[in-house]
Amino acid sequence: MSDLLSIYKGVHFKELPTPSFVINERKFNENCIMMLENVEELRSATGKNVKFRAHIKTHKTAKGTFKQLGVGLVNNPTDSILISTVKEAQGLLDYEDKTGKDYVKDICFSLPACIPEYLESLVALSKMVDHLRIFVDCKEHLDNLVKFGRPQETKKWSVFLKIDMGTRRAGVVCHSKEFRQTLSRLSDPEVLEVVQLYGIYAHAGHSYSLTSIIDSHKLLMDEIQAVNEAAVEIKKQLESLDVSKLVLSVGATPTSNSLRIRDEPLLIDFVQNKLIGTLEIHCGNYCLYDLQQLSTGCIKDYEIAGFVLGSVVSHYEERNEILTNTGVMALTRETSKYKGHGVCVKANEVLDSKPYNIDWYVDRVSQEHGILKPCEGSTTEHFALGTKIAILPQHACIVMAQFPYYFVVDDNGMVTDVWLPFQKW
Ligand SMILES: Cc1ncc(COP(=O)(O)O)c(C=O)c1O
Repeated sequence: MSDLLSIYKGVHFKELPTPSFVINERKFNENCIMMLENVEELRSATGKNVKFRAHIKTHKTAKGTFKQLGVGLVNNPTDSILISTVKEAQGLLDYEDKTGKDYVKDICFSLPACIPEYLESLVALSKMVDHLRIFVDCKEHLDNLVKFGRPQETKKWSVFLKIDMGTRRAGVVCHSKEFRQTLSRLSDPEVLEVVQLYGIYAHAGHSYSLTSIIDSHKLLMDEIQAVNEAAVEIKKQLESLDVSKLVLSVGATPTSNSLRIRDEPLLIDFVQNKLIGTLEIHCGNYCLYDLQQLSTGCIKDYEIAGFVLGSVVSHYEERNEILTNTGVMALTRETSKYKGHGVCVKANEVLDSKPYNIDWYVDRVSQEHGILKPCEGSTTEHFALGTKIAILPQHACIVMAQFPYYFVVDDNGMVTDVWLPFQKW
């Protein structure tokens, strides 16, 4: 990475090789600060401790993670993250070790995967960090933890019970037979010997299909009510457990973004008077954003902090189309309510903080080819061959995973850093 930085530092992004992934550091910082401020605002409006946990899956980099925690950006940074792969945590902790930093104290693995293959590497991870949390969403996970034993002699597995409140991806449904079975197993002495229930976790992944901040806010309330309802059930079935100590963790970028609506009386009342444990907000994509987030109506296009830089390589006047070098390998086939696989912003506008003029979108992709079409109603000129274009991705998490490193640029468009992600498994 230092080699890349010595080559590219101070180079304008329009001179970078394409395709590349470029991050505007100011926008990334602002996105991180805004989310932390929203949570801080809820804390002060409710007078309650509201925690924050940043998912690092979108960029998987150490420097991006520190910004999500608020290091150097806010007065009281947080120290808690979520990871989607064990490798993300290993890379991050190694980086901290090498650079003498110690910001991350609490890591939660966000795949409910209590199977021997994972438990081995999670044990290693638990020795590298103060607190490791894992997800459990079925009785067999608890059976496996019992068979495996404690991660360390002096430490039990610190567990979030993952509930499904509508996404139907992972998690157990509250009140279901499986939920009761899992709770009943949780109260077995042999389970209590190795497991400590830390909290309840819900993730409204289905919030990505919403189209307004009001609806996102309603879903945030549903998430909070869902974890609280699960806590009520736990209180009934595990009488010896002090449920007031549970952490009730909720969020996805759209539902967390709905905290932009400040001073919302229903939310404040619920947190102050009805919530059983401590509320935790978690989210990840918000540091970058993308067209899928724009579709939720919670953000503005110019808040999107990262883009794919591509080049115009040919044009076809008779069908009014342009060929770029940003195919499926660079943009993926992700979609949203915005047409195609990305929209084009002129390179000299993409660092602005005012609404973009969008004339072209990526209509089709094959492996290395991207085909641009003009947006409806736009009477736009073709770009000259070789023109650099900025493409806003449909889904930043998946698109960024296609790139081996990210160029970080300042407001003048100059490269200030290169971030290296801890990718794959
Ligand atoms: C379990 C879990 N929690 C939190 C997140 C973060 O969601 P978002 O990127 O919408 O903030 C994800 C993302 O997929 C997830 O899988």
